[in-house]
Amino acid sequence: MASPMAGQLQDKVALITGAGRGIGAGIANVLVERGAAVAVCDLDGAAAQETADAINAAGGKAIGGAVDVTDPESLDHFAGRTISELGGIDICVPNAGVIGGRGFAERKDFTKQDWDMTFAVNVQGLTNTTDAVKEHMKDREQGKIVIIASHGGRKPRGIGDKGRGNAQHPYLVSKAAAIQYTHLLAMELGGYNINVNAVCPGRLWTPMWQAIAQNHKDLNPDFAEMTPYEIFIDQIKAIMPLGREQTPEDIGKTVAFLASDDSSEITGQAINVNGGAAFD
Ligand SMILES: NC(=O)c1ccc[n+]([C@@H]2O[C@H](COP(=O)([O-])OP(=O)(O)OC[C@H]3O[C@@H](n4cnc5c(N)ncnc54)[C@H](O)[C@@H]3O)[C@@H](O)[C@H]2O)c1
Repeated sequence: MASPMAGQLQDKVALITGAGRGIGAGIANVLVERGAAVAVCDLDGAAAQETADAINAAGGKAIGGAVDVTDPESLDHFAGRTISELGGIDICVPNAGVIGGRGFAERKDFTKQDWDMTFAVNVQGLTNTTDAVKEHMKDREQGKIVIIASHGGRKPRGIGDKGRGNAQHPYLVSKAAAIQYTHLLAMELGGYNINVNAVCPGRLWTPMWQAIAQNHKDLNPDFAEMTPYEIFIDQIKAIMPLGREQTPEDIGKTVAFLASDDSSEITGQAINVNGGAAFD
């Protein structure tokens, strides 16, 4: 577990959504290592509290809470708590995301529920999150917003996903929307000295990709004899020059850079952290 040390984010406060596990928890740990205090929230409030407890036990500073990013009131409440308990919000990382609706792993074709869920969480949940912090950041004329999008939101792709149906279409379109929102919000907030950028992760072995790999295994006979993790690695080797999976800490390090003064002239950008995958 991360322990705090003086660093590029000393005395900053970061609010991170979807931080009960996976990439969000990894980002929280890296930001704490760089000196930030963190407010970690998740739909699973107990998981968020566990992330916060582990950081506090290691000597860092964290608060945790239950937040549903589709509910603006719960975000406003948590942002208010963060400001009163940690002194302000310097950094906001909208990270919470879903791959699809319930039962995604069992189907090849998308359903209306996949569109509804991905757009409610990955798009409106994102805008709800930035809405909850932007007036505060504007009043202070400073802020860093680092949106977790996906390299899948950039271009259509084929290589390495043999036999895949269209079940991921809603997710991929929602992540394209997140990238466009990054550009628009950067234009909206640049005059207030607020930087808005996105990180586009590649492939990480979190519960999200475990569901995708299970989806491939169940639906594609080519994968029948492989474990879900072998499928995940096989797909990575097919598209990523570096040939290896990314980790939550890899994403956290790029978030830390974009949340720091080292990147003060960078805004409106979407940066791939994906082992060099280039989509055809
Ligand atoms: N895992 C990957 O390979 C990968 C690749 C590219 C992008 N991403 C993106 O990174 C982000 C994190 O993904 P992950 O792999 O850690 O996923 P994950 O499923 O492991 O974790 C997502 C977290 O978000 C929370 N969450 C879901 N709905 C929520 C809601 N309505 N309100 C608040 N919290 C909610 C979940 O409870 C969970 O803790 C997502 O936005 C995802 O799209 C992941």
